Amino acid sequence: MKKKVFLTRTLHDFALNELKKRYQIEIHSGKIPIPQARLRSKIKDIEGLICFPYDTISQDTIDLAENLKVISTYSVGFDHIDIKHAKKKKIRVGYTPEVLTDATADLAFSLLLDGLRRTSEGDRIIRDGKWRVIYGAHDYVGVDLQGKTLGILGLGRIGGTLAKRAKAFDIKLAYHNRNRISKSKERSLGIKYVSFEKLITQSDIISIHVPHTKETEHMFDMKIFKKMKKSAFLVNTARGKIVNEKDLAIALKKKIIAGAGLDVFETEPINKKNPLTKLENVVLAPHIGSSTKETRSKMAEITVKNLNLGMSGKKPIYSVGY
Ligand code: DGY
Repeated sequence: MKKKVFLTRTLHDFALNELKKRYQIEIHSGKIPIPQARLRSKIKDIEGLICFPYDTISQDTIDLAENLKVISTYSVGFDHIDIKHAKKKKIRVGYTPEVLTDATADLAFSLLLDGLRRTSEGDRIIRDGKWRVIYGAHDYVGVDLQGKTLGILGLGRIGGTLAKRAKAFDIKLAYHNRNRISKSKERSLGIKYVSFEKLITQSDIISIHVPHTKETEHMFDMKIFKKMKKSAFLVNTARGKIVNEKDLAIALKKKIIAGAGLDVFETEPINKKNPLTKLENVVLAPHIGSSTKETRSKMAEITVKNLNLGMSGKKPIYSVGY
């Protein structure tokens, strides 16, 4: 009898074929994300679970699993999984960093560029038939990137790659991290370590690259927005809950800060009535940080490899917790 593996969504054909060779697989095909009741009924007798960022794998759900060996998530983020509890239950958890670093850094940079040069806003003006005045001294002006300071919060893989992208545009670089990187790495990236306070008060653009944890939840709220430069621009491709979205909408509306570029939100998909959708000075993307053909395919490859290792009692290539 082949071991049972459950997928909360489908994957690329090559990944499914690989899985079918070894396991008896079942793929959820109904409502996305999978309703908790269905996940809970399935988790009971499976040995492997492939899940996605919108699937909440809570302590209660994990407790129902009688044979689960591994949870392999198709994402770099794992804040949807109760990692501590999985560890306690000796369930391996695999995730997919590295392969999505370039794609996510590219997206962060494109939000930054779009916001500063108002590309999406211009696109809306044209589509809405509002392109009346052209080329006046003050029509649709953005701001230069050159010479501005980009403050990177969290200089890990994605933050570091964003720094390299920014360097090519002659942007000054600063970062804040829990742990300072080595001086030689700082030199090679051309980046300066600053306190959190300096990062938020002195940066022209702040890009968030920390994980969502209890400590980072709502790290950016009105108190912080008021300390930022009035001309500052915030980019978030990490997790929505790091930013207090209500405060951000007010800060953008009242021009307490100049703009934002967001790929992630407190609730996804966002509600049509979300005040952010009514503002011109924010660029919105539907959580597409890792969404390129190449990256998504590499993520599928790693997800399967992580699962295979966990199924045979080994540590996944990228493993968190146990
Ligand atoms: C992840 O993998 O966690 C990213 O947010 C997806 O873009």
